[in-house]
Amino acid sequence: MTHSVSRIPRRTAAAAVLALTGLLATAAPAATAAPPAAAPATARTAAAAPDIPLANVKAHLTQLQSIATANGGNRAHGRPGYKASIDYVKAKLDAAGFTTSVQQFTSNSAVGYNLIADWPGGDPNQVLMAGAHLDSVSSGPGINDNGSGSAAVLESALAVSRAGLKPAKHLRFAWWGAEELGLVGSKYYVANLPATERSKLSGYMNFDMIGSPNAGYFVYDDDPVIEKTFKDYFAGLGVPTEIETEGDGRSDHASFKNVGVPVGGLFTGASRTKTSAQAQKWGGTAGQAFDRCYHSSCDTTSNINDTALDRNSDALAHAVWTLSAGTTEPPAGDTYQNTSDVPIPDGGAAVTSPVTVSGRTGNAPAALRVGVDIVHTWRGDLVIDLVAPDGTAYRLKNSSGGDSADNVRETYTVDASVEAANGTWLLRVQDVARYDTGYINSFSLTF
Ligand code: TRP
Ligand code: ZN
Ligand code: CA
Repeated sequence: MTHSVSRIPRRTAAAAVLALTGLLATAAPAATAAPPAAAPATARTAAAAPDIPLANVKAHLTQLQSIATANGGNRAHGRPGYKASIDYVKAKLDAAGFTTSVQQFTSNSAVGYNLIADWPGGDPNQVLMAGAHLDSVSSGPGINDNGSGSAAVLESALAVSRAGLKPAKHLRFAWWGAEELGLVGSKYYVANLPATERSKLSGYMNFDMIGSPNAGYFVYDDDPVIEKTFKDYFAGLGVPTEIETEGDGRSDHASFKNVGVPVGGLFTGASRTKTSAQAQKWGGTAGQAFDRCYHSSCDTTSNINDTALDRNSDALAHAVWTLSAGTTEPPAGDTYQNTSDVPIPDGGAAVTSPVTVSGRTGNAPAALRVGVDIVHTWRGDLVIDLVAPDGTAYRLKNSSGGDSADNVRETYTVDASVEAANGTWLLRVQDVARYDTGYINSFSLTF
């Protein structure tokens, strides 16, 4: 039986310290204090990211090209091709179960739009973001710059939906407006994000130009964990990478980096020239720009290196999967116990035995197992509750004149799924009738 009966005040700091002294690790042999068993190295291996279909990414580029063609040849801020691009991406995400929102701002007397898509679930206090600017310059359709990043972020988000991914972190995808006017959209987003929300961002990954026709493989040299995730992925493909140096701060990651958010990203090169050393390791043409159509009318669907777009899209999805997976959560079946004896006053006040749980993620299970071992000469005297860290009490056993036996040695199952796992849980025992007496021998919780 699992009904909530009462609320008690939160523990005082002094009580919290006392509570720690009673804590024992799983299978700890004696009544000495020890931390809970550390999560085994095997805890929760993340599912591998899927291969992102290049054909799907290219289909998005075809759509963005059609949008530009139908709207004067570009998808620039303040032009109808930009809003049509937002509508296209948003419709795909809405159909896939994302929670989308369009953020409006004004720049150069024209309305601009950011598109934000949240994947429901994950830890709201750990948000992993991936983003790309969706606007082009006014001189061309912007298929490599930055249809490529926009399409790859979109297709990775759709892959999250197809996989029904349940990441430990909360995932958020973003498409920025007016990057080409000076990172305007992403700066606006960051400036309007309350400080508390900003502090929840565990990382921002940026994808701006990832299908350059004469591609290089550049990784942003910023947050070391994000950087290593990308480098390891390319190393696994046998593709050498270099640090991105063609203008640090020239894309939307700078807006996040400026407020202290860990950032990273990928890039295949813009107007800089590929060296012969680079052509040797990556192929392509030495002495030619990575993207000869950078910011020009020829940045069309013909201006894409399929291999580069494919590899970078897969790397993007790999990073989303890897960096959003929980690796610190202990596996099911961890037991936390307190084996310190607690005398129960005869016909007196309730007493408690504490167990402090830490290092877990999210809520307690729907079938939390509560091990109760009470030595007593008449168990019918005893009222027993499990008290969650927030004070909610779950009745385990009522007193009863007919319950005529000694001792309580039971494992109760409690639906504690609305309770945070971490914190100090109490076994609360009251002896409500005089004569028979006893003590709490041990109390355990198995998650
Ligand atoms: N759209 C970017 C720009 O502002 C392209 C770019 C050039 C870029 N250098 C970069 C993007 C370095 C990322 C990193 O011109
Ligand atoms: Zn760009
Ligand atoms: Ca009694």
